[in-house]
Amino acid sequence: MDEYIIKGGKSLSGEVSVGGAKNAALCILAAAIMTDDTVTLTNLPDLSDVSIVLESMEQIGANIIRTNEHCVKINAANIYNCTIDNEEISNIRGSYYLLGALLGKYKKAQVPLPGGCSIGSRPIDQHLKGFKALGADIKIEHGMIKAQADTLKGCHIYFDMITVGATINLMLAACLAEGETVLENSAKEPYVVDTANFLNSLGANVKGAGTSTIRIKGVKQLKGNEYSIIPDYMEAATFMIAAAATKGNVLVKNIIPKHLEAISAKLCEMGVTIQEIDNALRVIAQAPLKAVPVNTLPYPGFPTDMQPQITTLLTLAEGASIVNETIFEDRFRYTKELYKMSADIRVEGNTAIVSGSNHLTGAVVNAPDLRAGAALVIAGLVAEGFTTVKDIHYIERGYEGFEIKLQQLGADIIKVDSKNEREIQKAKLKLG
Ligand code: EPZ
Repeated sequence: MDEYIIKGGKSLSGEVSVGGAKNAALCILAAAIMTDDTVTLTNLPDLSDVSIVLESMEQIGANIIRTNEHCVKINAANIYNCTIDNEEISNIRGSYYLLGALLGKYKKAQVPLPGGCSIGSRPIDQHLKGFKALGADIKIEHGMIKAQADTLKGCHIYFDMITVGATINLMLAACLAEGETVLENSAKEPYVVDTANFLNSLGANVKGAGTSTIRIKGVKQLKGNEYSIIPDYMEAATFMIAAAATKGNVLVKNIIPKHLEAISAKLCEMGVTIQEIDNALRVIAQAPLKAVPVNTLPYPGFPTDMQPQITTLLTLAEGASIVNETIFEDRFRYTKELYKMSADIRVEGNTAIVSGSNHLTGAVVNAPDLRAGAALVIAGLVAEGFTTVKDIHYIERGYEGFEIKLQQLGADIIKVDSKNEREIQKAKLKLG
């Protein structure tokens, strides 16, 4: 197992280039098997979840050629099996997109119940309700979701809550259904829009993605194409918050600034300067940080995936802030780790009251999930002394070369093997 050793205190400065969006890549990879023609995907992030999905697709007969770490060619003409069953796929969340894609194309699919970050109960009732409305028979047996249909018929689906996963999954299955499907109360996240754009580039007829009503007219088949995945606005936002926390001056490049409006607005409210330059944002943090309220909301609101990072930043602000988590019911577990680093955060239900102190101290902490892990790294970058962040495999699920990009911005962070005491001591000596 690897861990990060961080010596806090350096301001981040320089430029960082953001990779492709993990959460868009997982949907688009699944969508790529809905055509028998070859699909070429570029700006693919080189992450473990992406490799797991590609391996699972290969196991059922898809031909996968990774032309380089950020580009893949997929040909699914020879898929011979609609059952995906391996231990690794059951650990990730994006596995459920293979259900929508296979069901849409082959009218049958079996996929393990999804895993993913432990941030709440994360039911999938809306996905299953939608598949049933399209005419599929759904069973959960032996840990597997089993879906089958004679034909899928377009229908009207009203989601009970805004859900990114179910919106995308239903969009996938409905693309090859007979007639028109209307999805109401849909999620508007850029991942939804990117998947719709990709499907349309293959010849699908999806209208309204990015609004709450999405209309999908089923087509007989999809063709191949080349497509570039959108930049990861969660990776970008994490670097923006890291820059703000370390009183840095960082240019975050290769992004779509519009996707980051909620983050930019909140950082400005806190006293951080944000300058938009084409497809980049410069983050300059010189003034003292101000306490602000934060409510997580579906896009375009403040994203739940940035809640741990902004809460960490608020521990450095002057005054008390209230953070309300409205999307997931168990997304404050990481605050126990921040407590070890001297943070003053009181959690009551889905609300955290953060008393800013401007002083964190290094400690040995465990990353409980992907985004919380990134937040603990940010805390380590500003804390006095050394911080060890363990369980970094969670972080590596969503951030490609995280420590390398931070090193390039001047951070004192080294990845070491947690069992190799000599390596750890050497890293600490190197960091001074
Ligand atoms: C996606 O999760 C992302 N995961 C999450 O990214 C992200 O936090 C989340 O969307 C919200 O933006 C992937 O794309 C793989 P939801 P998803 O369906 O699809 C409830 C990260 O760190 N709900 O929008 O699982 C659900 O419990 C992560 O990158 C139901 O009740 O999220 C939650 O409270 C973690 N029934 C809310 O809706 C359902 O059938 C939103 O969930 C579906 C969802």
